[in-house]
Amino acid sequence: MPRKVSYGLDYDDDYGTYDDYDYEHEVKVDGYDDYEDNVTSKPGKDGSKHGIWQCPICSYDNDESSFCCDICGAIYVYSSTHGKQKVNPATKDTGASAISKSHAQIYVAPRTNNLVDEFKSRKPNLYEQGRPEYRRGESNSKGKEAQVLSSDNEMLVPSVHGSKVSSDCESESSHSRENMNLTAPLSSNLNQLKLGKHPIRNKKVNSETKYQPEEWMLMEKEPEILKQLNLAIVGHVDSGKSTLSGRLLHLLGKVSKKEMHKYEKEAKEKGKGSFAYAWAMDESTEERERGVTMTVAVAYFDSKKYHVVLLDSPGHKDFVPNMISGAAQADAAVLVVDASTGSFEAGMDGYGIGQTREHAQLVRSFGVEQIIVAVNKMDVVGYSKERFDFIKSQLGAFLRSCGFKDSSIIWVPLSAVENQNLVTTSADVRLSSWCQGVCLLDAIDSLQTPLRDVSKSLILPICDVVKTSMGQVAACGKLETGAIRNGSKVLVMPIGALAAVRSIERDSISCNLARAGDHIAVTLQAIETGHVLAGGVLCHPDYPVQVATCLELKILVLDIPTPILVGSQVEFHIHHAKVAGRVSKMVALLDQKTGKVSKTAPRILKGKQSAIIEVRLDGAVCAEEFSKSKALGRTFLRSSGTTIAVGIVTRIVERKS
Ligand code: GTP
Ligand code: MG
Repeated sequence: MPRKVSYGLDYDDDYGTYDDYDYEHEVKVDGYDDYEDNVTSKPGKDGSKHGIWQCPICSYDNDESSFCCDICGAIYVYSSTHGKQKVNPATKDTGASAISKSHAQIYVAPRTNNLVDEFKSRKPNLYEQGRPEYRRGESNSKGKEAQVLSSDNEMLVPSVHGSKVSSDCESESSHSRENMNLTAPLSSNLNQLKLGKHPIRNKKVNSETKYQPEEWMLMEKEPEILKQLNLAIVGHVDSGKSTLSGRLLHLLGKVSKKEMHKYEKEAKEKGKGSFAYAWAMDESTEERERGVTMTVAVAYFDSKKYHVVLLDSPGHKDFVPNMISGAAQADAAVLVVDASTGSFEAGMDGYGIGQTREHAQLVRSFGVEQIIVAVNKMDVVGYSKERFDFIKSQLGAFLRSCGFKDSSIIWVPLSAVENQNLVTTSADVRLSSWCQGVCLLDAIDSLQTPLRDVSKSLILPICDVVKTSMGQVAACGKLETGAIRNGSKVLVMPIGALAAVRSIERDSISCNLARAGDHIAVTLQAIETGHVLAGGVLCHPDYPVQVATCLELKILVLDIPTPILVGSQVEFHIHHAKVAGRVSKMVALLDQKTGKVSKTAPRILKGKQSAIIEVRLDGAVCAEEFSKSKALGRTFLRSSGTTIAVGIVTRIVERKS
């Protein structure tokens, strides 16, 4: 069964276009109306117990030392004027504007109760899943670091009286000073944290000494273990990604006949019979009721050559940030397109409307070079060769413009519902008469895994955080570089806390070690659970990744209706972190062909232009120059629910050292 990665619902952006979701969300808004009363009355008021605060989202009674809810991950922030506060996630502002207007500090997309309950029942051993995100709460990380990092890179245990905090803030840049008002309330709250005995890193950045991998890291893998291939399933909404994934898992024995029968029966009862296979991936009640994937589902199967990690992404435009988080881990992608008349065309619409285009651009800029185009729903067009050829020529031209080489694109016409061309070549003469190519499974086996950087120091961007029943916390994600084994010491960034690896799971099976490329869950011990956050990074204690607040980027502007200006508010995406920021400087416009500077300090940037710009963030993110780390150096800028630019980090202008 797939593991749902709870990236959190994407409450910002213009989700108002999505009526059902909008409505549903308003229901949750009601729950938030009482929020302030709830939290300001913390211990003592409203009959709440001393030493406990009740989460207004899932009603769980949390110990007052927890700064995020143990059940749903919602973070509480102390505001000097309003007491503990939470940014209302239902606001229709974009993340950027919400931050700029608000004095609220942290935003975490909560899961709804039924999601939590569902998860509990499905994963009793890993039931308390919390996933705080760096979203609107850039000052989250800023505030935290104000306490744990000093100016000379010395990490400090937060002082109960907050004396260290002020001195740290003093030493920050003028920009940080400007943000003191933002960080101060959060600092107050964090001062109350009891950090216990877990160590906070107190070590200088070790940038000069060359990293030497240990012997165990480089040892050959046992031959019987299949190589892991991280495969993102992407494409426009309703193109059939989940149906295709579910059907594939069923055909390969990963979803049993009994389970499938259950899905069919339940889906039919709910009037959603056609979604039976999609239900194998879309586990939550919300997803099933709406017939729309909201969060990435992770499932596994073995092909002849690979242990495939299937990342079934949401296609709806409101959930592109979740798709990004999943696609960031991809070695290769399956771009599913709907062959039926009008649907393929809808996916190819410009200006962020067509997710066939947007997803293809995004996966390419994540460094994915190989793509399988699954031209699905061929049954609807009578397995027409003409329609397939039309799609191939239109989409092929676009994929080439994104930077995919013809030799790295595999075209597979198929039907997920009629099981044509999935794990064996098609038996239907309407298809087999003109299609002599490979089936989807063989196409997957023909992919190559990219080179794995095992000899570099450890980098594991955290995509999801799961609390175990033992009260420990597991960081999930793809190991980008290096290797890790049980007992390894790791540094959890951006907080800068040391932790020890208690155990490692790969596809829910524990293993002793994992290497670059592996998709794993690392259970950590000797660390406050609240310090391990999605959007953070696990790294080698002697080679901490950088934490940046202002970055220079080289970007390619996508098709956008409104030009980018200095001061434009953006959502800054990097690996699994998302932070609001603004364009603070336009350094240069670049010539598309030569890449050389064609104009310095341009006033505006329009679609399809390349440029060097600086982006100042409202918070801090783990980042590296692209030349040093590809995984931590790729970025996306989004605004009003669409991706406006893709880029790479060329320089860290201001860092939180
Ligand atoms: P999102 O995750 O929300 O973007 O949707 P999706 O791409 O996962 O699509 P999903 O699998 O939920 O399928 C959407 C609809 O397309 C369902 O009604 C499926 O039954 C239908 N569908 C999927 N594959 C095929 C196919 O091969 N043929 C036909 N006729 N319908 C299909
Ligand atoms: Mg889906």
